[in-house]
Amino acid sequence: MRPRGTVAVVTGASSGIGAATALALHEAGARLVLHGRDTERLAALAERTGGAVVTGDLADITAIPALAEEILGRFGEVDVLVNNAGIGWAGPFGEMTAADVRRVIDVNLTAPIELTRALLPALRTRPAARVVFVTSIAGRTAVAGESVYSSVKAGVDAFADSLRFELAGTAVKIGVVVPGVVDTEFFARRGRAYDRKSPKPIPAERVAAAVVRAVRDDRADQYVPRWLRLPVVIRGVLPGVYRTLATRFGGSG
Ligand SMILES: NC(=O)c1ccc[n+]([C@@H]2O[C@H](COP(=O)([O-])OP(=O)(O)OC[C@H]3O[C@@H](n4cnc5c(N)ncnc54)[C@H](OP(=O)(O)O)[C@@H]3O)[C@@H](O)[C@H]2O)c1
Repeated sequence: MRPRGTVAVVTGASSGIGAATALALHEAGARLVLHGRDTERLAALAERTGGAVVTGDLADITAIPALAEEILGRFGEVDVLVNNAGIGWAGPFGEMTAADVRRVIDVNLTAPIELTRALLPALRTRPAARVVFVTSIAGRTAVAGESVYSSVKAGVDAFADSLRFELAGTAVKIGVVVPGVVDTEFFARRGRAYDRKSPKPIPAERVAAAVVRAVRDDRADQYVPRWLRLPVVIRGVLPGVYRTLATRFGGSG
């Protein structure tokens, strides 16, 4: 699928991976709908890309049908949906409040499911369409201190896989991009810095390039960086060995 001329919606476009993805899709010729809450940052990005800004809080699940209407109203159609917006939470599980749990689930899992549900009828009218999900290595390996975040990212993965099977043979293709540690405001926002020596955070642009590949080449599944596939394979083939290693080395990310 050629991104040129397509209408691409990017959630979490105001920062980090989403902003880099918006710029990369703009370079590739897409017309953008930029979603987030930070109106100033979104306006600055819209000025650079000619994109349309739609704002809203994805924690408010009941507002998603209206949000989808507003998105569709901008260009009258949608070819690409990049479900990227997300928040982290790190620390002992017992310190999470019920509101923390609800928010992590709603923003990272319920919102992308609901937005996809609301936009799917429009995507299905297009000759070619893509839905790309930005998940996390935490969802594939389970990271200590990030139990709820890991579980919702695993949920997004399972949703994406299931939808890919369901839509096989249609023009709507599903892609998943699985980043490791990325140099964005994610860690500052979750209130716990990334303090491990390795792996080193990678630039958001590398993840954005993978999102563009998912759109262009219909890539179902990409790890960024690629070596992250290794712990996932070990976990699948040798779960006991994986658990021993993760217990010893797998502190919070
Ligand atoms: N950074 C990493 O190491 C890493 C690793 C693996 C996966 N990821 C995933 O990558 C995605 C992007 O994260 P990032 O690293 O780019 O972090 P980021 O710089 O903090 O960006 C997060 C984006 O999500 C949006 N967002 C957060 N809460 C929202 C809400 N309630 N309603 C609407 N939008 C909301 C923010 O927009 P506003 O502030 O404008 O609301 C922002 O644009 C997330 O799904 C994250 O889980 C990140």
